[in-house]
Amino acid sequence: MIVLGIETSCDETSAAVVQSFKDDAGRHRNRVCSNVVYSQIARHKPYGGVVPEIASRAHVELLPKILEDALAQSGFVWSDLDAVAVTHGPGLASSLLIGLNAAKALAMRLDIPLIPVNHLKAHLFSAFLGEDAPTVEEVCPALALLVSGGHTCLVEMTDPHTFRLLGETLDDAAGEALDKGASLMDLGYPGGPIIEKTAKNRNAAFVSFPRGMKQRGGSPFQKNPMPQEYTFSFSGVKTALRYYLQQHPEVMTNGALPDVVASYQEAICDALADRTEQALKNESFTSLVCGGGVLRNGCLRGKLADLAAAYGIRLRIAEPAYCTDNAAMVAAFGATFDEAMLDPGAMGIDIDPNLPLTSSC
Ligand code: KG4
Ligand code: ZN
Repeated sequence: MIVLGIETSCDETSAAVVQSFKDDAGRHRNRVCSNVVYSQIARHKPYGGVVPEIASRAHVELLPKILEDALAQSGFVWSDLDAVAVTHGPGLASSLLIGLNAAKALAMRLDIPLIPVNHLKAHLFSAFLGEDAPTVEEVCPALALLVSGGHTCLVEMTDPHTFRLLGETLDDAAGEALDKGASLMDLGYPGGPIIEKTAKNRNAAFVSFPRGMKQRGGSPFQKNPMPQEYTFSFSGVKTALRYYLQQHPEVMTNGALPDVVASYQEAICDALADRTEQALKNESFTSLVCGGGVLRNGCLRGKLADLAAAYGIRLRIAEPAYCTDNAAMVAAFGATFDEAMLDPGAMGIDIDPNLPLTSSC
C-alpha cells in the first residue's frame, strides 16, 4: 500500500510518501519513500512563538510545492497512490484546515480513500519508522510515553489503534514548559533545542527545581481521575524558574545561566523518567515506546535508556528525525487502517483541534 501523508497541525508543513508491506513473517513494515518537512521557525521567531495566522498562511503558500516534492522524491506518480492520510486534530484550527482540505481535494481527484489521522497516535507510531525499527507485533503491548509541545502522557498501547490512558499532565506539557522556560531566560524560540544546546556539559545540580506534584491529588478539572503517581505537572517548575530568576538576576550576566538551564532541563527530564518508572514498577510491561518532539532531547533519551536497562525492557524511541512533526508518521499510521477500518464518511469529517489520544479515529 502506498500512502501520501499530510501534516499541517502546527508550524511544520510536511508531506510524505510511505509504502507499507508485510514481511516474510507476516509483520507490518514501512518504507519511508520521501518525507519533506518545512519548518516555519524563521517566520515565527520574531514573535517568540507560533502565530496561528502566520502558520496557516504559510501552509497555504508552501503545501502545493511540498506535495509535488514529496511525490517526486518518492519516485512514484499520483496514480500510484492508494490513499491520502492527513492530520485532522489535535492542533491549530486554522492550520489543520489547510491540510485537511488539500487532502480531501486530492482524495477526490485521485478517487482514493481519505484517512483522517489523530496527530497523537501518529507521534506514537513514529517509533515504528526507520531502517532498524521494530514492528508493532514485536513490541506491543507496550508502555508508551508521548512528550510533545502540547501533550505529555503515559498510555498502555495494545496496538496502533488501542490505548489506555495511564496518566497525563495536569497543566503544561513538558515541551511547553521548555519553550516557556527558554523565553523566561531570554534564550529564544523554540526553547527545547536551545535549552539542550545551552545545557550541554553544564552543572545540572546548580539549582534544585521541583519535579512536579507527585503525591498531591489530581486536578479537579480532570474528567477521569488517574493514579496520582502517573500524572505530570510542569507549571510548578516554570514558576520556580521565574522566582529563581527574580531572586538571582545576576545569573543572566555572570556566566551561570547555562547551569540554571541545565538544572531546569534536568528537573523536567527527571519528572518524565520518574512517572515512567512508576508505571514500569506497577504494571508488567516488557517494552517502552516513546515519541514526540521532546524525545529529540539527549538528556531524556539517556534517562529512558537507563530505565530500560534497569528494568530489563525493550526500549524504542522514535528516531530524532521522526520525533518532531512530520508527515511520514501520518502516512505510516494511515497505512495501518485496513479496508474494514476505513470510514466511508471520511470526506465529510471536520478538523478537531482538541482531539484526544483516546478518540475512536
Ligand atoms: O511534537 P512536536 O514537534 O510538536 C507538537 O506536536 O507539539 O514537539 C515540539 C516540541 C517543542 O516544545 C520543542 O521545544 C520540543 O518539542 N523539542 C525539544 C527538542 N526539540 C524539539 N525539546 C527538548 N530538546 C530538544 N532537542
Ligand atoms: Zn506534534
